[in-house]
Amino acid sequence: MSRRIQIFDTTLRDGEQSPGFSMSLGQKLRVARVLADMKVDIIEAGFPAASPGDYEAVRAIAGEIRGPIIAGLCRTIPRDIERTIEAVESAENSRIHTFIATSPIHRDLKLKMSPDEVIQHAVNAVKLARSACDDVEFSAEDGIRTEREYLAEVLQAVIEAGATTVNIPDTVGYSTPTEMYDLFSWLGKTVPGIENVHMSTHCHNDLGLAVANSLAAVEGGATQIECALNGIGERAGNCALEEVVMALRTRADHYGVEVGVDTTRLASASHLLAAVTGNFVPRNKAIVGENAFAHEAGIHQHGMLASRETYEIMEPETVGVKDSQLILGKHSGRHAVVDRAKQMGYELEDDEVELIMKRFKDLADVKKRVFDSDLEAIITGYETSTMGPWSLNWLSVVSRVNGESTPSASLTLAHEDGTTSTHTGDGDGPVDAIVEALELVTGTKIEVLSLAMRSISLGEDAQGEANMRAKVDGIEYSGHGLSTDIVAACAEALLEIVNRAIRNADQVRQTNVA
Ligand code: KIV
Ligand code: ZN
Repeated sequence: MSRRIQIFDTTLRDGEQSPGFSMSLGQKLRVARVLADMKVDIIEAGFPAASPGDYEAVRAIAGEIRGPIIAGLCRTIPRDIERTIEAVESAENSRIHTFIATSPIHRDLKLKMSPDEVIQHAVNAVKLARSACDDVEFSAEDGIRTEREYLAEVLQAVIEAGATTVNIPDTVGYSTPTEMYDLFSWLGKTVPGIENVHMSTHCHNDLGLAVANSLAAVEGGATQIECALNGIGERAGNCALEEVVMALRTRADHYGVEVGVDTTRLASASHLLAAVTGNFVPRNKAIVGENAFAHEAGIHQHGMLASRETYEIMEPETVGVKDSQLILGKHSGRHAVVDRAKQMGYELEDDEVELIMKRFKDLADVKKRVFDSDLEAIITGYETSTMGPWSLNWLSVVSRVNGESTPSASLTLAHEDGTTSTHTGDGDGPVDAIVEALELVTGTKIEVLSLAMRSISLGEDAQGEANMRAKVDGIEYSGHGLSTDIVAACAEALLEIVNRAIRNADQVRQTNVA
């Protein structure tokens, strides 16, 4: 039987902690549900000691998600470990993941600890974690730039202290595939007891080698890969889950290992993450990009017509990309919509269906044909419409090219307390004017950081999607809007940002009072 590789997903920890990818509690739960449906082995849900929000998210995920092991990250500091133990205690299966840097650069310049002190911290942390949890992972941060003999000593000590997984991260994305293979093979032969625990790889993508390095680690004996959807993570990101899983599966003849992930969920999971974080996936991204299975050049199309194998090494269906674009319309009922969503890889919860149906009907009223991509955009963005306290009732925008008039926007917002408020703003362009009008209505100061737009589906009545990032009171938020009118989509995205900021401020006030 071939070796089984554990897929450890860190989208919600390493991914979420990187700039531009923060998620609300509700969004983290949605991503965690999708990861569980996809059958990853471990979900690293967060870093509980980092903030109260992180702690609550890990606790909520541990309480709800069944199937995968739920891991929480902590430094080797006792109060970090205790907080993590509390956060994951309600999980069906939990893991404490503790780490300390082992490389000379980190020991001398960051930790200011001797090699022996580092080992002592690591051992104490693993023992404390093991006193509460049978599943303990130890990571030697910057393991790749650590002296080999010393790294082997650290790993032996933590295994003797009770670690059940040892992770050797390439924290700064410095390694090469040959080095990875060599190091993992050497550790496998050198460290006493390593054959009884999981040996894990965690690669960053600074040189674009994270996937190649992770695969090389597997060839060298790693039994766990740490990775993230769409490759998100610190700086240039982590090893992309969809790429590494499809490489192992497509080239099973070469790697000779198995993974338990349901690959038909990859495309929908990637799209969901892109929508909730407001970061589009590049068209040419391997496995999940729009072009990943598109064949444009005449010679390629000719080959594909003769046989798919000429230019296709994977069938799109294996990653959840469907050939057919079933078209729904205003007469399509709840059953057809839920059924189609299911075929596309989205298991809708009962409370989601009503909101999604409402948005679907609104869209079908203005758009004759609702494509799969429209339905997907509604599903992945549905949280926008559920979020108060403000909602958009009416919007009118004046634009200008070479004229005298100033671009302006008038809008009416309804508040969940039943009141409405109308204001007009002006600015350099329509989006700027909407920002001013929103500020006047809601009393929030918005500093726009970025705006990305794209068209979803086909035809004159295609929907536009807007992803925006903005700062309110020094905190960065993302917003997502969807409409057949692209300016209205921007207004929706900005409104989501304002609503998030207001809800966040309310939450902080409540926590302080308590
Ligand atoms: O990159 C890294 O070293 C990490 C560890 C905490 C696992 O993310
Ligand atoms: Zn990392």
